[in-house]
Amino acid sequence: MELQKEIEKRLTFAIISHPDAGKTTITEKLLLFGKAIHAAGAVKSSRTDRKTTSDFMEMEKQRGISVSTSVMGFNWKDRKVNLLDTPGHADFSEDTYRTLTAVDSTLMVIDSVKGVEERTRKLCEICRMRRTPIITYINKLDRDGKDPIELMDELETELNVKITPMSWPVGQGKAFKGVYSLYEKRLILFNSHGTQDEDDTIEITDLSDPKLDQYAGLEAEQLREEIELINEVYPSFDREQYLSGHITPVFFGSAINNFGVRELLDCLVDIAPSPRIHEAEERTVEAAEEKFSGFIFKIHANLDPKHRDRIAFLRICSGRFEKNKQYLHVRSGKPFKTANPTAFMAQDRNIIDHAYPGDIIGLHDTGTFKIGDTLTEGEKMKFKGIPSFAPQIFRTVLNMDPMKSKQFNKGLQQLAEEGVVQLFTKKYTNEKLLGVVGMLQLDVIKYRLEHEYKASCRFDNSTFTTACWINSDDKKELDKFISIHSGKIAEDVRGAMVFLAGNKWLLERTLEEFPEIKYYFTSDYE
Ligand code: G4P
Repeated sequence: MELQKEIEKRLTFAIISHPDAGKTTITEKLLLFGKAIHAAGAVKSSRTDRKTTSDFMEMEKQRGISVSTSVMGFNWKDRKVNLLDTPGHADFSEDTYRTLTAVDSTLMVIDSVKGVEERTRKLCEICRMRRTPIITYINKLDRDGKDPIELMDELETELNVKITPMSWPVGQGKAFKGVYSLYEKRLILFNSHGTQDEDDTIEITDLSDPKLDQYAGLEAEQLREEIELINEVYPSFDREQYLSGHITPVFFGSAINNFGVRELLDCLVDIAPSPRIHEAEERTVEAAEEKFSGFIFKIHANLDPKHRDRIAFLRICSGRFEKNKQYLHVRSGKPFKTANPTAFMAQDRNIIDHAYPGDIIGLHDTGTFKIGDTLTEGEKMKFKGIPSFAPQIFRTVLNMDPMKSKQFNKGLQQLAEEGVVQLFTKKYTNEKLLGVVGMLQLDVIKYRLEHEYKASCRFDNSTFTTACWINSDDKKELDKFISIHSGKIAEDVRGAMVFLAGNKWLLERTLEEFPEIKYYFTSDYE
């Protein structure tokens, strides 16, 4: 009973958006409502896209800060909300994909001036793939943006989702008067003071009510027409459709003016799902199962360079987690026990005694965990996650100080386990290759090797531009392939076999000659 009650309270979500759409602003407003912070400016902007490498390195120095904003917990109404932060920069998109495995729903923020942008498209696709429910907030209505009807079309066609408007704007830009909440049947008037007072909200259940003309003025008639139109075109809100990821409810507002955010939060706690199920390779795990299970989706290493401490972020999937209890670390088969699990409440980290499905806890780690690891009460199972994708940029990484080769190897291994880059070790030569999505990842590796491991490195161009994971039931054939192509065979950080190639065409042609060998462009083929 207690477990069920705790599960129903939990709401674990992340915000997805293109940089600049307003994610930081909205996060801050949500935290202010939840009293998790007390002043504006407490949330650091995630707009790393505009930053130069040196700015980025400065941020790296402040990793202690970013760990505390990785998970922000607060209470709203009767729910315990866990908001997970995702990196803004596209070069770290793999990190974002992994975080999306740990949430039960997402909030998608769209800039009304720019409409659907590239990162939104990609992140929305990942959510659709995982059937994660999405609520949409169209931001910056105080600006002259795209026509709302046009925006609705754009959402449907570009993101391939069905939509249900939950509110509708009255005017836009300078003429922005507020929104009509179709969900609550109220007109909410806009002022730019950054507050929403009681008198700004007028209950109007019937749109022919003359009160609408009194408050919305000349825009009233247009609002009536538009709402008539959207009522014809779009289905009314159906929670089941939202929960199954088929429709996204859409809100309008202006985050910087704190407008429409409270309605959004009220609706979020009303409709967003509690933790339900998580897929393991062996079976589906229900949140309400009595026995504890969870998985590591993120590792944050070396918060304090003086001590080698790492924090592994554990998402609890089922049962009750208790400190000092012995669990099974499935990959190694070894027991795991922790005396100091940490919970995250915005900027604080505090030790907790227990936690429930949907919660994220930090486990101090001395090198036990890898991303994707499962912890259970004894059952041997592995949660499915977002796989690694074959990278397109490869660099050979060379140790520049022979006296520090131990540090160099250890640093590379740990940073790869943390998910900063993909590391491939050539089978016969032990040569090390890094695979990345964006060049900033290489800067981070170099910097962190130097500052945290006292090792220096150099990157050389590589002739490889693509890779795939390989395996075969026919061991003889696999051995033959490996010996013929020995210079192109490597192991990833988990020890899985990888074939590297100069381009995709070459890769496919080479493998065509060995039909017994199976190949995959993502790492979760087992
Ligand atoms: P991000 O985390 O998604 O990257 O976006 P962030 O919240 O940092 O917002 C990006 C810019 O958009 C900021 O302006 C922010 O003030 C502005 N913004 C956010 N919400 C609204 C809104 O409702 N209306 C308008 N007009 N602007 C909004 P900036 O000038 O780039 O930065 P700053 O100097 O204001 O911090």
